[in-house]
Amino acid sequence: MILLSGCGDPSSDGRPLTRHPGYEYMPNMYRSPSFETYSENPNFSNNSTARLPVKGTIARGTMPFEYKNTLEDYLRAGKELINPISKNDKNTEEGEALYVMFCAHCHGDNGDGKGSITHPVYGAIPAYNDKVQIRRTGSTMSELKDGNIYHAITYGLNAMGPHASQVTPEERWKIIMYINNLQKEEI
Ligand code: HEC
Repeated sequence: MILLSGCGDPSSDGRPLTRHPGYEYMPNMYRSPSFETYSENPNFSNNSTARLPVKGTIARGTMPFEYKNTLEDYLRAGKELINPISKNDKNTEEGEALYVMFCAHCHGDNGDGKGSITHPVYGAIPAYNDKVQIRRTGSTMSELKDGNIYHAITYGLNAMGPHASQVTPEERWKIIMYINNLQKEEI
């Protein structure tokens, strides 16, 4: 046996090559009759085995956000959206921790708009409890509705970038719960 197995042409790493591929028992295990996910497939009109979800499909555990980055939808979000997270100390504290991580460096620990970033572009950061400066809503920062804030976190506004990729929808609502407290703070 040792002599025979030494007879094939050696491959580059010195192992002998066998010329016979061997017998296949149960060829289905080698060549599966099912389609490969990303293979071409003439059975379907777009020639692709991987199928798209049915239109209108909502992934389990997600809530679609049906508002575009327009003033109209910003105002509509303010009228329609209600914070779905129950208001309690635990959620508010989690919101505060997230706020410190993602917002405080611009908006300030206490929401006064005086965070550690002093770049001129970020000079005009409004305080959450501001009762003077008129915003897109026609009202002030302290009167912004939860849906307005949610829209602003999701899409950003001018120098404030969108935060949709940093904070999940649930985290956004928790941050808003905490911001509600900052909006009420006395000036
Ligand atoms: C890079 C700095 C920066 C960061 C980080 C930032 N903001 Fe802002 N934010 C701004 C600036 C600047 C404005 C004012 C934009 C304007 O009026 O042109 C603003 C405005 C806002 C407004 C008012 C939007 C409106 O509709 O009038 C809200 C609400 C807000 N930010 C919430 C947040 C929250 C919540 C976070 C954290 C998730 C956050 N921001 C993170 C800079 C920042």
